[in-house]
Amino acid sequence: MSAIKAPRGVRDILPDESWKWAFVLNTTMEIAGNYGYSEIHLPVFEHTELFSRGIGETTDVVEKEMYTFTDRGGRSLTLRPEATASMVRAYLQNKMQNGIQPAKLWCAGPMFRYERPQKGRYRQFWQIDFEALGTSSPMVDVEVISIALDLFNSLGLSNLDVVINSVGCPACRPQYREKLKNYFQNRFNDLCHTCQSRLDRNPLRILDCKNENCREITEEAPDIYSSLCGECKDHFDMVLKGLSSLGIHYQMDKRLVRGLDYYTKTAFEILSGELGAQNAVCGGGRYDNLSEAIGGPDLPGVGFAAGLERIVLIMEQQNCNLGEEPHIDVYVIAAEKDVDVEVMSLVSDLRTAGIKADMDFMCRGMKAQFKSALNKSASHVCIVGGDELSRGVVTVKNLGRSEQSEIARPEVVSFIKQNI
Ligand code: HAM
Repeated sequence: MSAIKAPRGVRDILPDESWKWAFVLNTTMEIAGNYGYSEIHLPVFEHTELFSRGIGETTDVVEKEMYTFTDRGGRSLTLRPEATASMVRAYLQNKMQNGIQPAKLWCAGPMFRYERPQKGRYRQFWQIDFEALGTSSPMVDVEVISIALDLFNSLGLSNLDVVINSVGCPACRPQYREKLKNYFQNRFNDLCHTCQSRLDRNPLRILDCKNENCREITEEAPDIYSSLCGECKDHFDMVLKGLSSLGIHYQMDKRLVRGLDYYTKTAFEILSGELGAQNAVCGGGRYDNLSEAIGGPDLPGVGFAAGLERIVLIMEQQNCNLGEEPHIDVYVIAAEKDVDVEVMSLVSDLRTAGIKADMDFMCRGMKAQFKSALNKSASHVCIVGGDELSRGVVTVKNLGRSEQSEIARPEVVSFIKQNI
Protein backbone atom coordinates (compact mmCIF):
# COMPACT_ATOMS: atom_id res chain seq x y z
CA MET A 1 0.00 0.00 0.00
CA SER A 2 1.43 3.40 -0.91
CA ALA A 3 1.39 6.23 1.61
CA ILE A 4 -1.66 8.49 1.62
CA LYS A 5 -1.30 11.63 -0.47
CA ALA A 6 -3.06 15.00 -0.21
CA PRO A 7 -6.32 15.34 -2.19
CA ARG A 8 -6.18 16.68 -5.75
CA GLY A 9 -5.89 20.45 -6.04
CA VAL A 10 -4.45 20.84 -2.56
CA ARG A 11 -0.83 21.85 -1.96
CA ASP A 12 1.65 21.78 0.86
CA ILE A 13 3.34 25.14 1.11
CA LEU A 14 6.84 23.98 1.88
CA PRO A 15 9.55 25.98 3.69
CA ASP A 16 11.15 27.01 0.39
CA GLU A 17 7.90 28.81 -0.46
CA SER A 18 6.32 29.63 2.88
CA TRP A 19 8.73 32.50 3.57
CA LYS A 20 7.54 34.16 0.37
CA TRP A 21 3.99 33.93 1.64
CA ALA A 22 5.06 35.51 4.91
CA PHE A 23 6.61 38.39 2.94
CA VAL A 24 3.39 38.98 1.01
CA LEU A 25 1.27 38.77 4.16
CA ASN A 26 3.54 41.14 6.10
CA THR A 27 3.42 43.64 3.24
CA THR A 28 -0.38 43.29 3.17
CA MET A 29 -0.54 44.06 6.87
CA GLU A 30 1.52 47.22 6.38
CA ILE A 31 -0.58 48.42 3.47
CA ALA A 32 -3.78 47.66 5.40
CA GLY A 33 -2.49 49.82 8.25
CA ASN A 34 -1.76 52.70 5.86
CA TYR A 35 -5.34 52.66 4.63
CA GLY A 36 -6.95 52.20 8.06
CA TYR A 37 -8.13 48.61 7.57
CA SER A 38 -8.19 46.28 10.58
CA GLU A 39 -7.58 42.56 10.46
CA ILE A 40 -10.37 40.14 11.23
CA HIS A 41 -10.18 36.34 11.52
CA LEU A 42 -13.24 34.60 10.15
CA PRO A 43 -14.34 30.98 10.49
CA VAL A 44 -13.42 28.55 7.75
CA PHE A 45 -16.91 27.04 7.65
CA GLU A 46 -20.33 28.66 7.75
CA HIS A 47 -23.96 27.68 7.30
CA THR A 48 -24.40 26.65 3.66
CA GLU A 49 -27.24 29.16 3.24
CA LEU A 50 -24.86 32.06 3.82
CA PHE A 51 -23.14 31.25 0.56
CA SER A 52 -26.07 29.92 -1.45
CA ARG A 53 -28.10 33.03 -0.68
CA GLY A 54 -25.19 35.46 -0.61
CA ILE A 55 -23.25 34.37 -3.68
CA GLY A 56 -26.34 33.27 -5.65
CA GLU A 57 -27.96 29.89 -6.37
CA THR A 58 -27.17 29.99 -10.09
CA THR A 59 -23.46 30.76 -9.82
CA ASP A 60 -20.83 28.12 -10.65
CA VAL A 61 -19.45 28.50 -7.14
CA VAL A 62 -22.74 27.52 -5.51
CA GLU A 63 -23.94 25.05 -8.15
CA LYS A 64 -20.73 23.11 -8.65
CA GLU A 65 -17.87 24.15 -6.45
CA MET A 66 -18.80 24.18 -2.79
CA TYR A 67 -17.45 21.71 -0.25
CA THR A 68 -20.68 21.11 1.61
CA PHE A 69 -21.17 18.55 4.36
CA THR A 70 -23.62 17.67 7.06
CA ASP A 71 -22.17 17.84 10.54
CA ARG A 72 -22.98 15.41 13.35
CA GLY A 73 -25.83 17.64 14.44
CA GLY A 74 -27.47 17.38 11.01
CA ARG A 75 -26.60 20.96 9.94
CA SER A 76 -25.54 21.73 6.39
CA LEU A 77 -22.20 23.50 6.54
CA THR A 78 -19.84 24.66 3.80
CA LEU A 79 -16.12 25.33 3.69
CA ARG A 80 -15.98 28.98 2.67
CA PRO A 81 -15.44 29.46 -1.07
CA GLU A 82 -14.74 33.18 -0.47
CA ALA A 83 -14.74 35.68 2.38
CA THR A 84 -17.13 38.48 1.42
CA ALA A 85 -20.36 36.81 2.58
CA SER A 86 -18.67 35.86 5.88
CA MET A 87 -17.40 39.40 6.30
CA VAL A 88 -20.92 40.81 5.92
CA ARG A 89 -22.26 38.13 8.29
CA ALA A 90 -19.60 39.02 10.87
CA TYR A 91 -20.38 42.75 10.53
CA LEU A 92 -24.08 42.14 11.17
CA GLN A 93 -23.65 39.55 13.90
CA ASN A 94 -21.15 41.71 15.80
CA LYS A 95 -23.24 44.88 15.38
CA MET A 96 -20.44 46.75 13.70
CA GLN A 97 -23.00 49.29 12.46
CA ASN A 98 -22.63 50.79 15.96
CA GLY A 99 -18.95 51.48 15.39
CA ILE A 100 -17.18 53.92 13.08
CA GLN A 101 -18.44 53.73 9.50
CA PRO A 102 -17.40 52.44 7.12
CA ALA A 103 -16.04 49.34 8.86
CA LYS A 104 -12.80 48.72 7.00
CA LEU A 105 -11.70 45.13 7.43
CA TRP A 106 -9.24 42.71 5.89
CA CYS A 107 -8.49 39.06 6.29
CA ALA A 108 -6.32 36.36 4.79
CA GLY A 109 -6.84 32.64 4.78
CA PRO A 110 -7.72 29.51 2.87
CA MET A 111 -10.79 29.26 0.64
CA PHE A 112 -12.18 26.09 -0.90
CA ARG A 113 -13.66 25.49 -4.34
CA TYR A 114 -14.15 22.22 -6.18
CA GLU A 115 -12.64 23.46 -9.46
CA ARG A 116 -10.54 21.70 -12.08
CA PRO A 117 -7.00 22.21 -10.80
CA GLN A 118 -4.45 23.82 -13.10
CA LYS A 119 -1.65 26.38 -12.85
CA GLY A 120 -2.87 29.11 -10.51
CA ARG A 121 -6.12 27.29 -9.75
CA TYR A 122 -6.43 25.04 -6.71
CA ARG A 123 -9.16 23.50 -4.59
CA GLN A 124 -7.71 25.04 -1.47
CA PHE A 125 -6.19 28.46 -2.10
CA TRP A 126 -5.54 31.55 -0.06
CA GLN A 127 -7.16 34.91 -0.53
CA ILE A 128 -6.19 38.31 0.81
CA ASP A 129 -9.53 40.05 1.20
CA PHE A 130 -10.36 43.72 1.87
CA GLU A 131 -13.88 45.00 2.48
CA ALA A 132 -15.32 48.44 3.32
CA LEU A 133 -18.82 48.10 4.77
CA GLY A 134 -21.41 50.76 5.43
CA THR A 135 -20.86 53.36 2.71
CA SER A 136 -22.06 53.85 -0.85
CA SER A 137 -19.45 56.50 -1.60
CA PRO A 138 -17.85 55.86 -4.99
CA MET A 139 -14.58 57.11 -3.48
CA VAL A 140 -14.35 53.95 -1.39
CA ASP A 141 -14.58 51.92 -4.61
CA VAL A 142 -11.60 53.97 -5.75
CA GLU A 143 -9.88 53.31 -2.44
CA VAL A 144 -10.19 49.53 -2.66
CA ILE A 145 -8.83 49.47 -6.21
CA SER A 146 -5.93 51.65 -5.14
CA ILE A 147 -5.19 49.37 -2.15
CA ALA A 148 -4.92 46.40 -4.48
CA LEU A 149 -2.60 48.30 -6.81
CA ASP A 150 -0.56 49.71 -3.94
CA LEU A 151 -0.11 46.18 -2.58
CA PHE A 152 0.93 44.78 -5.95
CA ASN A 153 3.28 47.70 -6.59
CA SER A 154 4.87 47.31 -3.15
CA LEU A 155 5.47 43.66 -3.96
CA GLY A 156 7.11 44.71 -7.24
CA LEU A 157 4.53 43.23 -9.62
CA SER A 158 4.52 44.85 -13.03
CA ASN A 159 2.46 44.76 -16.23
CA LEU A 160 -0.90 44.59 -14.53
CA ASP A 161 -4.13 45.65 -16.19
CA VAL A 162 -7.06 47.10 -14.27
CA VAL A 163 -10.30 46.14 -15.96
CA ILE A 164 -13.52 47.75 -14.78
CA ASN A 165 -17.22 47.64 -15.52
CA SER A 166 -20.54 48.47 -13.96
CA VAL A 167 -23.06 45.67 -13.56
CA GLY A 168 -25.89 48.01 -12.61
CA CYS A 169 -28.34 47.40 -9.80
CA PRO A 170 -31.72 45.66 -9.35
CA ALA A 171 -33.40 48.79 -10.73
CA CYS A 172 -31.62 48.83 -14.08
CA ARG A 173 -30.17 45.35 -14.58
CA PRO A 174 -33.46 43.62 -15.51
CA GLN A 175 -33.80 45.89 -18.52
CA TYR A 176 -30.25 45.05 -19.59
CA ARG A 177 -30.87 41.34 -19.00
CA GLU A 178 -33.79 41.52 -21.41
CA LYS A 179 -31.69 43.30 -24.03
CA LEU A 180 -29.01 40.64 -23.69
CA LYS A 181 -31.52 37.81 -23.77
CA ASN A 182 -33.00 39.11 -27.01
CA TYR A 183 -29.56 39.46 -28.52
CA PHE A 184 -28.40 35.98 -27.52
CA GLN A 185 -31.75 34.40 -28.41
CA ASN A 186 -31.04 35.26 -32.03
CA ARG A 187 -27.68 33.47 -31.83
CA PHE A 188 -28.90 30.62 -29.60
CA ASN A 189 -27.67 27.78 -31.82
CA ASP A 190 -24.13 29.18 -31.95
CA LEU A 191 -23.79 29.36 -28.15
CA CYS A 192 -22.05 26.59 -26.18
CA HIS A 193 -24.29 24.24 -24.15
CA THR A 194 -23.46 25.96 -20.88
CA CYS A 195 -24.40 29.36 -22.28
CA GLN A 196 -27.60 27.97 -23.79
CA SER A 197 -28.58 26.89 -20.31
CA ARG A 198 -27.52 30.29 -18.94
CA LEU A 199 -29.75 32.22 -21.31
CA ASP A 200 -32.82 32.16 -19.10
CA ARG A 201 -31.18 31.87 -15.72
CA ASN A 202 -28.23 34.24 -15.94
CA PRO A 203 -27.63 35.76 -19.39
CA LEU A 204 -24.98 38.18 -18.06
CA ARG A 205 -22.71 35.20 -17.39
CA ILE A 206 -22.62 34.46 -21.12
CA LEU A 207 -20.55 37.61 -21.48
CA ASP A 208 -17.53 36.07 -19.79
CA CYS A 209 -17.69 32.60 -21.34
CA LYS A 210 -14.23 31.52 -22.52
CA ASN A 211 -15.56 29.45 -25.47
CA GLU A 212 -14.27 30.87 -28.81
CA ASN A 213 -17.69 30.97 -30.46
CA CYS A 214 -19.36 32.57 -27.47
CA ARG A 215 -16.60 35.17 -27.26
CA GLU A 216 -17.12 36.12 -30.86
CA ILE A 217 -20.86 36.44 -30.31
CA THR A 218 -20.43 38.54 -27.18
CA GLU A 219 -18.21 41.04 -28.98
CA GLU A 220 -21.27 42.53 -30.63
CA ALA A 221 -23.53 42.14 -27.59
CA PRO A 222 -25.16 45.33 -26.25
CA ASP A 223 -23.24 46.99 -23.43
CA ILE A 224 -24.81 47.94 -20.13
CA TYR A 225 -23.89 51.62 -20.19
CA SER A 226 -26.96 52.81 -22.06
CA SER A 227 -29.15 50.76 -19.68
CA LEU A 228 -27.71 52.06 -16.40
CA CYS A 229 -30.08 54.04 -14.19
CA GLY A 230 -29.08 57.58 -13.22
CA GLU A 231 -27.68 56.53 -9.85
CA CYS A 232 -25.53 53.71 -11.29
CA LYS A 233 -24.34 55.92 -14.10
CA ASP A 234 -23.33 58.75 -11.74
CA HIS A 235 -21.63 56.26 -9.45
CA PHE A 236 -19.65 54.74 -12.30
CA ASP A 237 -18.63 58.16 -13.62
CA MET A 238 -17.40 59.18 -10.16
CA VAL A 239 -15.39 55.97 -9.77
CA LEU A 240 -13.72 56.51 -13.15
CA LYS A 241 -13.04 60.16 -12.29
CA GLY A 242 -11.55 59.14 -8.94
CA LEU A 243 -9.30 56.55 -10.57
CA SER A 244 -8.08 59.06 -13.12
CA SER A 245 -7.37 61.61 -10.41
CA LEU A 246 -5.07 59.04 -8.76
CA GLY A 247 -3.35 58.35 -12.08
CA ILE A 248 -4.74 54.81 -12.17
CA HIS A 249 -5.02 53.53 -15.72
CA TYR A 250 -7.96 51.26 -16.39
CA GLN A 251 -9.69 49.57 -19.27
CA MET A 252 -13.45 49.42 -19.43
CA ASP A 253 -14.73 46.00 -20.37
CA LYS A 254 -18.45 45.51 -20.95
CA ARG A 255 -17.89 41.74 -20.69
CA LEU A 256 -16.59 41.83 -17.13
CA VAL A 257 -19.49 40.50 -15.08
CA ARG A 258 -17.67 38.41 -12.41
CA GLY A 259 -18.79 34.97 -11.29
CA LEU A 260 -20.65 35.93 -8.13
CA ASP A 261 -24.19 37.26 -8.20
CA TYR A 262 -23.95 39.77 -5.39
CA TYR A 263 -22.28 42.52 -7.38
CA THR A 264 -23.98 45.86 -7.98
CA LYS A 265 -22.48 48.86 -9.77
CA THR A 266 -18.67 48.55 -9.78
CA ALA A 267 -17.00 45.29 -10.81
CA PHE A 268 -13.28 45.08 -11.46
CA GLU A 269 -10.38 42.72 -11.92
CA ILE A 270 -6.65 43.14 -12.04
CA LEU A 271 -5.06 40.88 -14.64
CA SER A 272 -1.55 39.65 -15.24
CA GLY A 273 -0.20 38.16 -18.46
CA GLU A 274 2.10 35.92 -16.36
CA LEU A 275 -0.77 33.74 -15.19
CA GLY A 276 -1.92 32.12 -18.44
CA ALA A 277 -5.57 31.09 -18.47
CA GLN A 278 -6.12 32.02 -14.81
CA ASN A 279 -5.08 35.61 -15.38
CA ALA A 280 -6.93 37.39 -12.56
CA VAL A 281 -4.68 38.21 -9.66
CA CYS A 282 -7.56 39.94 -7.95
CA GLY A 283 -11.25 40.57 -8.38
CA GLY A 284 -13.78 42.68 -6.58
CA GLY A 285 -16.54 45.19 -6.68
CA ARG A 286 -19.54 46.61 -4.89
CA TYR A 287 -22.25 44.42 -3.38
CA ASP A 288 -24.92 46.72 -1.99
CA ASN A 289 -27.59 43.98 -1.80
CA LEU A 290 -25.58 41.15 -0.29
CA SER A 291 -26.62 41.97 3.27
CA GLU A 292 -30.32 41.86 2.36
CA ALA A 293 -29.81 38.59 0.47
CA ILE A 294 -28.62 36.97 3.70
CA GLY A 295 -31.44 38.43 5.79
CA GLY A 296 -29.74 41.62 7.00
CA PRO A 297 -30.62 45.31 6.62
CA ASP A 298 -29.59 47.57 3.76
CA LEU A 299 -25.80 47.65 3.94
CA PRO A 300 -23.64 48.87 1.09
CA GLY A 301 -20.19 47.39 0.73
CA VAL A 302 -17.26 47.13 -1.62
CA GLY A 303 -14.04 45.15 -1.62
CA PHE A 304 -11.71 42.80 -3.41
CA ALA A 305 -9.88 39.54 -2.95
CA ALA A 306 -6.48 38.61 -4.35
CA GLY A 307 -5.18 35.07 -4.74
CA LEU A 308 -2.02 34.56 -2.70
CA GLU A 309 -0.71 31.66 -4.82
CA ARG A 310 -1.16 33.77 -7.93
CA ILE A 311 0.66 36.74 -6.40
CA VAL A 312 3.63 34.53 -5.51
CA LEU A 313 3.60 32.92 -8.98
CA ILE A 314 3.88 36.32 -10.63
CA MET A 315 6.56 37.46 -8.19
CA GLU A 316 8.63 34.40 -9.03
CA GLN A 317 8.15 34.86 -12.75
CA GLN A 318 9.02 38.54 -12.60
CA ASN A 319 11.98 37.95 -10.26
CA CYS A 320 10.55 40.36 -7.71
CA ASN A 321 12.31 40.96 -4.45
CA LEU A 322 10.71 38.47 -2.09
CA GLY A 323 12.30 39.73 1.09
CA GLU A 324 14.94 37.89 3.04
CA GLU A 325 15.19 34.14 2.56
CA PRO A 326 15.33 32.43 5.95
CA HIS A 327 18.90 31.77 7.02
CA ILE A 328 20.87 31.38 10.19
CA ASP A 329 23.79 33.53 11.27
CA VAL A 330 25.87 30.99 13.12
CA TYR A 331 26.14 27.22 12.98
CA VAL A 332 27.82 25.72 16.01
CA ILE A 333 29.84 22.65 15.11
CA ALA A 334 30.82 19.86 17.48
CA ALA A 335 34.42 18.93 16.63
CA GLU A 336 34.11 15.66 18.53
CA LYS A 337 31.63 13.50 20.39
CA ASP A 338 30.43 14.34 23.91
CA VAL A 339 30.47 18.13 23.52
CA ASP A 340 26.74 18.34 22.72
CA VAL A 341 25.89 20.04 26.01
CA GLU A 342 28.53 22.76 25.46
CA VAL A 343 27.35 23.21 21.87
CA MET A 344 23.72 23.50 22.99
CA SER A 345 24.69 26.00 25.67
CA LEU A 346 26.55 28.23 23.16
CA VAL A 347 23.63 28.00 20.69
CA SER A 348 21.30 29.05 23.48
CA ASP A 349 23.50 32.04 24.47
CA LEU A 350 23.62 33.17 20.84
CA ARG A 351 19.85 32.90 20.45
CA THR A 352 19.29 34.81 23.68
CA ALA A 353 21.37 37.62 22.16
CA GLY A 354 19.08 37.66 19.10
CA ILE A 355 21.55 35.84 16.84
CA LYS A 356 20.06 33.15 14.62
CA ALA A 357 21.92 30.01 15.62
CA ASP A 358 21.62 26.30 14.97
CA MET A 359 23.50 23.04 15.54
CA ASP A 360 23.64 19.43 14.43
CA PHE A 361 21.29 16.90 16.02
CA MET A 362 22.28 13.94 13.88
CA CYS A 363 25.74 13.10 15.28
CA ARG A 364 27.30 13.95 11.91
CA GLY A 365 31.00 14.40 11.22
CA MET A 366 32.62 17.84 10.92
CA LYS A 367 32.46 17.86 7.12
CA ALA A 368 28.71 17.22 7.11
CA GLN A 369 28.22 19.88 9.78
CA PHE A 370 30.09 22.43 7.64
CA LYS A 371 27.81 21.48 4.76
CA SER A 372 24.74 22.11 6.92
CA ALA A 373 26.19 25.51 7.85
CA LEU A 374 26.53 26.39 4.17
CA ASN A 375 23.07 25.03 3.34
CA LYS A 376 21.59 27.26 6.01
CA SER A 377 23.57 30.23 4.64
CA ALA A 378 25.38 30.78 7.93
CA SER A 379 27.93 33.58 7.80
CA HIS A 380 29.91 32.11 10.72
CA VAL A 381 30.58 28.78 12.35
CA CYS A 382 31.75 28.20 15.88
CA ILE A 383 33.75 25.05 16.45
CA VAL A 384 33.56 23.53 19.90
CA GLY A 385 36.02 20.75 20.69
CA GLY A 386 37.69 19.07 23.67
CA ASP A 387 41.02 20.88 23.27
CA GLU A 388 39.40 24.30 22.86
CA LEU A 389 37.04 23.58 25.71
CA SER A 390 39.89 22.77 28.06
CA ARG A 391 41.50 26.10 27.13
CA GLY A 392 38.19 27.94 27.52
CA VAL A 393 38.07 29.08 23.89
CA VAL A 394 35.92 28.51 20.79
CA THR A 395 37.13 28.72 17.18
CA VAL A 396 35.03 31.22 15.24
CA LYS A 397 35.23 31.06 11.47
CA ASN A 398 33.92 33.69 9.07
CA LEU A 399 32.78 31.56 6.14
CA GLY A 400 32.63 34.42 3.66
CA ARG A 401 36.20 35.55 4.28
CA SER A 402 37.64 32.17 5.30
CA GLU A 403 39.17 33.81 8.38
CA GLN A 404 39.22 32.14 11.73
CA SER A 405 40.26 33.05 15.24
CA GLU A 406 40.09 31.62 18.73
CA ILE A 407 37.81 33.60 21.02
CA ALA A 408 37.45 33.19 24.76
CA ARG A 409 34.13 31.49 25.44
CA PRO A 410 32.63 34.40 27.44
CA GLU A 411 33.47 36.78 24.54
CA VAL A 412 32.01 34.66 21.72
CA VAL A 413 28.54 36.17 21.68
CA SER A 414 29.74 39.79 21.64
CA PHE A 415 32.44 38.96 19.06
CA ILE A 416 29.83 37.47 16.73
CA LYS A 417 27.42 40.32 17.33
CA GLN A 418 30.07 42.76 16.15
CA ASN A 419 30.92 40.70 13.09
CA ILE A 420 27.60 39.68 11.55
P1 HAM B 1 -13.11 35.83 -7.03
O1 HAM B 1 -12.87 36.53 -8.33
O2 HAM B 1 -13.92 34.61 -7.06
O3 HAM B 1 -13.74 36.92 -6.07
O4 HAM B 1 -11.71 35.50 -6.37
C1 HAM B 1 -10.77 36.51 -6.13
C2 HAM B 1 -9.36 36.01 -6.46
O5 HAM B 1 -9.09 34.79 -5.77
C3 HAM B 1 -9.15 35.65 -7.93
O6 HAM B 1 -8.86 36.80 -8.70
C4 HAM B 1 -7.94 34.74 -7.83
O7 HAM B 1 -6.75 35.49 -7.71
C5 HAM B 1 -8.20 34.00 -6.53
N1 HAM B 1 -8.81 32.69 -6.79
C6 HAM B 1 -10.11 32.42 -7.01
N2 HAM B 1 -10.30 31.09 -7.20
C7 HAM B 1 -9.08 30.52 -7.10
C8 HAM B 1 -8.60 29.16 -7.19
N3 HAM B 1 -9.41 28.15 -7.39
N4 HAM B 1 -7.27 28.96 -7.03
C9 HAM B 1 -6.41 29.99 -6.80
N5 HAM B 1 -6.82 31.27 -6.69
C10 HAM B 1 -8.12 31.53 -6.85
C11 HAM B 1 -14.11 36.67 -4.78
O8 HAM B 1 -13.85 35.67 -4.17
C12 HAM B 1 -14.82 37.83 -4.13
N6 HAM B 1 -15.16 37.46 -2.75
C13 HAM B 1 -13.96 39.07 -4.17
C14 HAM B 1 -14.60 40.25 -3.52
C15 HAM B 1 -14.31 40.76 -2.32
N7 HAM B 1 -15.56 40.98 -4.04
C16 HAM B 1 -15.90 41.93 -3.18
N8 HAM B 1 -15.15 41.79 -2.11
